[in-house]
Amino acid sequence: MDGKDGASRRQFLRTAALTGGGLFALQSAVAEMCGLTPPQTEGPFYPVSKITDDSINDLSVIDGHSHHAKGEVVYISGVVEDEDCNPVEGALVEIWQAAASGRYDHPADDSGLEKDGDFQGWGEFITGADGRYAFKTIVPGHYPADLSTGWYRPPHIHFKITRRGFHESISQMYFTPSSFTGEKARLIEKLNHDDLILKRVDHPERVVIPFAPAKADTEVGPLLAYRMKGGKVTLTKVGLIVAATGEKIGSFDLVLRQAR
Ligand SMILES: [Fe+2]
Repeated sequence: MDGKDGASRRQFLRTAALTGGGLFALQSAVAEMCGLTPPQTEGPFYPVSKITDDSINDLSVIDGHSHHAKGEVVYISGVVEDEDCNPVEGALVEIWQAAASGRYDHPADDSGLEKDGDFQGWGEFITGADGRYAFKTIVPGHYPADLSTGWYRPPHIHFKITRRGFHESISQMYFTPSSFTGEKARLIEKLNHDDLILKRVDHPERVVIPFAPAKADTEVGPLLAYRMKGGKVTLTKVGLIVAATGEKIGSFDLVLRQAR
């Protein structure tokens, strides 16, 4: 599912409602509702410490550092929506992931892989009325999950979405092999295929996302600053996140289940 499909489904629902397209059209519309983002394990590396006074949804740089994070830059955006494809305002979208080396910035990561002190391994976004979110980050590395069996986790990004009135959603996003070329594409294909977590996911097509190079400089979303004031966190728009021509963008919509 990508943003365009979501938009066209919403448009279809609206058209069916406005034109009174008959029972058949409405039944078809119901069958085309937005499918829930499949739940997956939170894993052991949910962030324990977060830097403040930083651009919170750009993970590729830590303000004040002279170097950027190692790895290939990618942009992820999408819409947080309910099962009727309505955008959800005020949803907190949290992501966390390994650095390009495969190492998490977390005390429980004993992989011995190289730390990247210039990589901000987590990010946050709060959606506005359009439900949209945006992140700039890097392609995470793969890492050993169980060396005794040779199980490696494929590159993936953890997502947690919370909003009052909805069930908390915890999932993981993966990259399609077609997002890459040559050796890297073959590696991703094998890692995705063999992953013991991705194997168990219903509707894997909802979480395995294609990334493609931007054909021109593309505005992805607002850049937010994360500030602590008087013990309270504020998120303030301080600029724009723009993908330069050739940098890869992926669209990942997040569908929440309403709490009834
Ligand atoms: Fe992970």
